Amino acid sequence: MNSMPTVLPTYAIDQSEVLHVDAAGTRSAATKGQTPITTVRPMVTKQPTGEVTQPVKIRAKNVDFFYGDNQVLHNVSLDIPEKSVTAFIGPSGCGKSTFLRMLNRMNDIIDGTRHTGDVLLEGSDVYAPSVDVVLLRKRVGMVFQKSTPFPKSIFENIAYGPRVAGLRNKAKLNEIVETSLKRAALWDEVKDRLNGSAMALSGGQQQRLCIARTLATDPDVVLMDEPASALDPASTARVEDLIFELKKNYTIVIVTHNMQQAARVSQRTAFFFQGVLVETGDTRALFTNPTEKQTEDYITGRFG
Ligand SMILES: Nc1ncnc2c1ncn2[C@@H]1O[C@H](COP(=O)(O)OP(=O)(O)OP(=O)(O)O)[C@@H](O)[C@H]1O
Ligand SMILES: [Mg+2]
Repeated sequence: MNSMPTVLPTYAIDQSEVLHVDAAGTRSAATKGQTPITTVRPMVTKQPTGEVTQPVKIRAKNVDFFYGDNQVLHNVSLDIPEKSVTAFIGPSGCGKSTFLRMLNRMNDIIDGTRHTGDVLLEGSDVYAPSVDVVLLRKRVGMVFQKSTPFPKSIFENIAYGPRVAGLRNKAKLNEIVETSLKRAALWDEVKDRLNGSAMALSGGQQQRLCIARTLATDPDVVLMDEPASALDPASTARVEDLIFELKKNYTIVIVTHNMQQAARVSQRTAFFFQGVLVETGDTRALFTNPTEKQTEDYITGRFG
């Protein structure tokens, strides 16, 4: 296995780097209708498309998935590297959320579903009968599109998970609440009103609260299904900055419809189409020089 990628000096992906192909098939750098990216962030050096050179945190092998008789994932195999952000993109209904939920067995709670193939977390089968699903979902936490705070205080929202896990020590709970809120970049905004209702927070704050709540149970992996799609641009930017920060300590998988967002926050991107994983690779390579025609059509806005 190769060594970790080198971090280059800070530079930005801007919209001119996202490939545009016009109706005549001419490739150019300009992309219509996309917001310019102004945030400057460090990027890793280009990796060969498809190959993961960091340690693999999650490996999916030949996954098929069915809702009743309806097969919605077809032979999906994907390696997700640790301590990095992997983005899932693709048109509505292509199976992104279904595949994301495969990773922490959230599909188990939907009646009439079944799958074949394997999902391995650090080499261990997450679908093995011996797996404690509650523990698995602590290790592989999830943040949803719509923030869902409990109608309780900010403190209680964060302390809930550790309490359910049996933690009673007040000092320890205080510490977890503070650390989780700091990691979710919310502490400064709420530290003086921890006993106030979580429902009084703004949408963007509620989403960061939900991220903090997930972090409070000390996961290794955080799955995020369109975590910023209901937020205004300023809150979206905060959540994106947060995701970018979190990858230092966590393996992040994010589903997004926003290709600029995928380009901003992720190191790897997986493009799904009609239940098939069409292409996966280094985000920069996938957006600027896709291997597959379907990927190119999607990222240049021909469909989806
Ligand atoms: N609970 C369910 N029961 C039956 N079919 C479902 C269920 N959830 C999703 N599907 C079907 O599975 C397919 C994949 O859906 P999924 O939600 O995974 O797509 P997606 O890529 O996340 O789409 P979107 O971008 O709209 O969120 C779709 O055809 C959808 O109708
Ligand atoms: Mg979805």
